[in-house]
Amino acid sequence: EKDGYDHFMQKEIAEQPRAYRDTMLGRIDKETKGVVLPELNMTLEDIHQIQQIQMVACGTAYHAALVGKAVIERMTRIPVEIDVASEYRYRQPVIRENTLVIAVSQSGETADTLAAMREAKLCGARVMAVTNVVGSSVAREADDVLYTMAGPEIAVASTKAYTSQLIALYLFAIYVSQSLNTMDAMTRMELLSTMEKLPEQVEGMLEDTRTIQRIAGELADRNHLFFIGRGLDYMVAMEASLKLKEISYIHSEAYAAGELKHGSLALIEDGTPVIAIATQEALLEKTISNIKEVKARGAYVIGVALEGNMEMAKTADEVIYIPRTDALLTSTLSVVPLQLLAYYAALARGNDVDKPRNLAKSVTVE
Ligand code: F6R
Repeated sequence: EKDGYDHFMQKEIAEQPRAYRDTMLGRIDKETKGVVLPELNMTLEDIHQIQQIQMVACGTAYHAALVGKAVIERMTRIPVEIDVASEYRYRQPVIRENTLVIAVSQSGETADTLAAMREAKLCGARVMAVTNVVGSSVAREADDVLYTMAGPEIAVASTKAYTSQLIALYLFAIYVSQSLNTMDAMTRMELLSTMEKLPEQVEGMLEDTRTIQRIAGELADRNHLFFIGRGLDYMVAMEASLKLKEISYIHSEAYAAGELKHGSLALIEDGTPVIAIATQEALLEKTISNIKEVKARGAYVIGVALEGNMEMAKTADEVIYIPRTDALLTSTLSVVPLQLLAYYAALARGNDVDKPRNLAKSVTVE
């Protein structure tokens, strides 16, 4: 059932191009070059009534929701709040009738996420689920369901479910923006055709993983490291850090690149690995200066940058390149080599990659 792969995680990373395609399938109209989501019950009028959006999710799904929040706000100008699902209820969130709550959950059975969405429903919110499992509790209880088409995910560490959540949330953001006319048609068409190229670009990245394997080998005997990034890169940094922790057991932290100097820079010593994600070219100069700050303290810097980025080649010790795409979409590409990095680091440490210690695939307790 692993189809010739050594581990489910490896197989699921490799399945991502298909998962991207399936999640987009039938949802991009060839003629109008717009997004169609007939499975949603919400009408155009319902969409116009949304005053605010709140997102709830846990772990990796929360990291996907962070990207969702950023793109929904940018494309639709609807304010989006986001909570880790286990915290949502206890902060007494302000929920109104025109609040849309989006619960993101691969399994659709996560107790914390279910509890958060039940609370939202009680307070009168409309709830939309983004889930991978048809008929799951989250899907049954939500007013609207947007399915990710990742297929069954067996490895505890989520990979293709996360990237499919990204794709689904991008489609939803575009869908709302086209309903509200907050994005011009040209921009939308270009964005959608750029999205359609992503599966092929991921395939390209998966062809040769030798650089990543070599870097993973170098990181395997370290005890702690940092991930830094700005904007969407920071959100991917959080996900990459979680992935590395949960399967390799190497301690890592993700920081907004500009935040490190406000305290944690004190932890950088000679040889401390820092993985710097810098795919947001508008923010590049600032991130490069943050990289120089850590380099000056002896850090061993691994950059993740867009192909052809010469600045990074000059500044970092190692560079992992990803293909060029729209600045809003880079998260769907930059996370892939970092999933592989976690995978190979865990392998090098002799860990049970698919079943890391202390963790379960579906967390049904609060
Ligand atoms: C990490 C991971 C977990 C889940 C989290 C939520 O790789 O898989 O952090 O993302 O437990 O699970 P779902 O999405 O099923 O609600």
